[in-house]
Amino acid sequence: MSSISPSAPVSASASIRPVSYSVSEAVTSGADRAGAEDAADVTSPQQVRIDLRESGGDRSYPIFIGSGLLSWSASFAGLPKAAQALIVSNTTVAPLYAETLKQALLAHHAQVTVLELPDGEQHKDWATLNLIFDALLSHGADRKTVLYALGGGVVGDMTGFAAACYMRGVPFVQVPTTLLAQVDSSVGGKTAINHPQGKNMIGAFYQPRRVVCDLDVLKTLPPRELSAGLAEVIKYGPIFDMALLDWLEQHIDALRALDTAALAHAVRRSCEIKAEVVGQDERESGLRAILNFGHTFGHAIEAGLGYGAWLHGEAVGCGMVLAATLSQRLGLVDAAFVARLKRLIERAGLPVVAPVLDPNDNAGRYLDLMRLDKKAEAGEIKFVLIERPGQAVVRGAPDALVREVIDACAAAA
Ligand SMILES: NC(=O)c1ccc[n+]([C@@H]2O[C@H](COP(=O)([O-])OP(=O)(O)OC[C@H]3O[C@@H](n4cnc5c(N)ncnc54)[C@H](O)[C@@H]3O)[C@@H](O)[C@H]2O)c1
Ligand SMILES: [Zn+2]
Repeated sequence: MSSISPSAPVSASASIRPVSYSVSEAVTSGADRAGAEDAADVTSPQQVRIDLRESGGDRSYPIFIGSGLLSWSASFAGLPKAAQALIVSNTTVAPLYAETLKQALLAHHAQVTVLELPDGEQHKDWATLNLIFDALLSHGADRKTVLYALGGGVVGDMTGFAAACYMRGVPFVQVPTTLLAQVDSSVGGKTAINHPQGKNMIGAFYQPRRVVCDLDVLKTLPPRELSAGLAEVIKYGPIFDMALLDWLEQHIDALRALDTAALAHAVRRSCEIKAEVVGQDERESGLRAILNFGHTFGHAIEAGLGYGAWLHGEAVGCGMVLAATLSQRLGLVDAAFVARLKRLIERAGLPVVAPVLDPNDNAGRYLDLMRLDKKAEAGEIKFVLIERPGQAVVRGAPDALVREVIDACAAAA
């Protein structure tokens, strides 16, 4: 059993340097001054820096968080100089935001092209990835060309992988437009496409040059997608930061109502925590695994119901209830903690009752699916559990106990 204590290193190190930066600093620190006239539209952009210690810090990059960043060309100042840029988006997001981003980018690149991919997880595959290479080649893109991923996690993961491969690596920038992408997938450098035999099976670790989170774009996000993103925000509390959990209990309604100040805090704190964890363990040899809290059960729910029936964040929300209950049965946390977490997940608009995957042997079906999960080691299921509030541990658990937990948390068959 490996005990992971993220709390201690955080207070002991100064790896996260959240800096509020003023508009003038942002503009003058960039390679050019374009966009200064738009500065009044931007309300207190914030910056979180991600510092990858494993690789000597040379690939650290900033995350900008604020309102109106998409139309503000200074958000994109100071990136590698390139005549060409390709905005990779999809058929849902491009009509809403691609033109705004394009106008902002024209201050930095002579030619900006927009590529619309088909929308949906089912298109996160080789054929769609090839559309990115086709567009790059047909526009004569060179190794300096900058890719901008404008969309949710699907677009971000595919664009990042394309950037890692095209001419053996071109710069890319994440412009995440879902809450899930802003608080999770755009940060940390995991890129991938799916294979018919498994999700995210083909990919690379490849870091973006910058992440630009414009909170205003969340206004057009379907409420169900917003709730799914909240699951990933909530997850950071029990594993790392109980103050965040307290704060979420106070502000969950404001977040669901898209209050900008509340969103700014939630995105920033989530990025800080993810930056801290990824900075210590870029390639997931240990600590990074705690970010999978709720995901072992969640992946079983997604696979068991058939992908797409529940959104990933919905399955993770419910999975956190199961993982917290398992932590309680192991004597790690008390019932009041589980009840508190469950209540918050429910208030976020997420399911808290585990679906029945097999009426004959429901717990058996969950166990089978969890043994197939790529995080299982030699058939032993690794659970991210709460060792005590604010601290996670990765360990196995007896099948009999896991069965009890699933039965206790599942809907009556
Ligand atoms: N790389 C990582 O570390 C990591 C982490 C978590 C998840 N992921 C990946 O992320 C993907 C899920 O990402 P997601 O939840 O963002 O899903 P998604 O990219 O499919 O977006 C969800 C839906 O919202 C639409 N949309 C996006 N932004 C919008 C906006 N502002 N207004 C209206 N509609 C909008 C999309 O077109 C899509 O239909 C999965 O493929 C998952 O594997 C990656
Ligand atoms: Zn997730």
